[in-house]
Amino acid sequence: MNTVHMDTVLRDPNTVTPALVLDFNKIHRTYDQFIDLFPGGQVYYAVKANANLDVLRLVVEKGGGLEIASLAELERSLAVGATGDKIICSNPIKNPVFLERMSHAGVYAMVVDSTYEVEKVAQYAPGMRVYVRLAVDNKGSVLPLAGKFGVSGREALEIFELARERGLEPIGLSFHVGSQCLNVQNWVNAIRACGEIWQEAETRGFQFHFLDIGGGFPAGSYHDENIPTLDAISAVTMEAVRQYIPQDKLMLVLEPGRGLVGEAGKLVVTVVGKAVRNGDEWLYLDAGVFNGLMETYEGFPPVALLLNDDQRPMRLYTMAGPSCDSCDVIARGYELPETHIGDRLLFLDAGAYTNEYAVAFNGFPIPAVVNLNLQPEVA
Ligand SMILES: Cc1ncc(COP(=O)(O)O)c(C=O)c1O
Repeated sequence: MNTVHMDTVLRDPNTVTPALVLDFNKIHRTYDQFIDLFPGGQVYYAVKANANLDVLRLVVEKGGGLEIASLAELERSLAVGATGDKIICSNPIKNPVFLERMSHAGVYAMVVDSTYEVEKVAQYAPGMRVYVRLAVDNKGSVLPLAGKFGVSGREALEIFELARERGLEPIGLSFHVGSQCLNVQNWVNAIRACGEIWQEAETRGFQFHFLDIGGGFPAGSYHDENIPTLDAISAVTMEAVRQYIPQDKLMLVLEPGRGLVGEAGKLVVTVVGKAVRNGDEWLYLDAGVFNGLMETYEGFPPVALLLNDDQRPMRLYTMAGPSCDSCDVIARGYELPETHIGDRLLFLDAGAYTNEYAVAFNGFPIPAVVNLNLQPEVA
């Protein structure tokens, strides 16, 4: 099977925009990189990043696991052939129907980070293996996840005690350093904290084997030197795991979402309108914060290129989506070559959290998905 180059599809005038073009060769390579760089680690792909069935199938066929947050994600995972023992749930809040279905499907383990959740899991998924999510430093991540979830070390120990009393099986710890984490020290600090709790738990008679170092692996190091590479993250992280966590029968789990699929996706859009307002030049695109570029609203700086080879002077633009809502602005003061109505722009690193967040507000369609190179390249 010949590799289809993404550029060919992006430049093809027949490609309807907005389109999210995903290169599966890239996902294969990134998966293999995770396995090589984190020896002994297991990838449990965070389905929320991109629940495209072909992505889930790729992970399952490569022997990976899936991390799910909802009943719909469980059903998609089972539909592509994942078995319960290769599924975990790291969403701290789960409803009874979801808990019952996970129990029935034989899901390997799930997170708890409150005593209320322990009671609920004990009722609807009796005997379940559980791990506790620790609150850790999210400083230096573009999208911090701290605050909403996670507990202190003291609370973690209380939760383990209660879980044991209720007949659950506490197996270890998890954390999330924040999405698009640019600060590798967050992983080191978090693993050290896990090691301390692990040790204390062992003195209380718990036997742990599970450490889930979460997602947070950033996309974009290939074009921005301020973004740490997977090599840099793995070097410090694996060193911390060896230093702080007992290695005996350790199940080391990685939950990349963006880190696995982000760089594999490019979003191609068309400029559908222009205006000058208060001296600013505006470009209106056929995708905006509602139908594909939601992460720009969360503070992610977009990385956009003009898909045109002409030499044109550089200009500053405000880029906005097509909807009638004034919050539908993607970037201000963004430098691009002079851009005309009908030109196409490319947004890089769009493989995660693009279509998952998108809705057709005002009737503007969410990006069409183009899956390229579903069969892996033969080396
Ligand atoms: C529990 C959990 N695991 C993994 C992820 C994936 O994170 P990322 O896409 O930053 O790798 C998330 C994202 O919100 C999450 O909440």
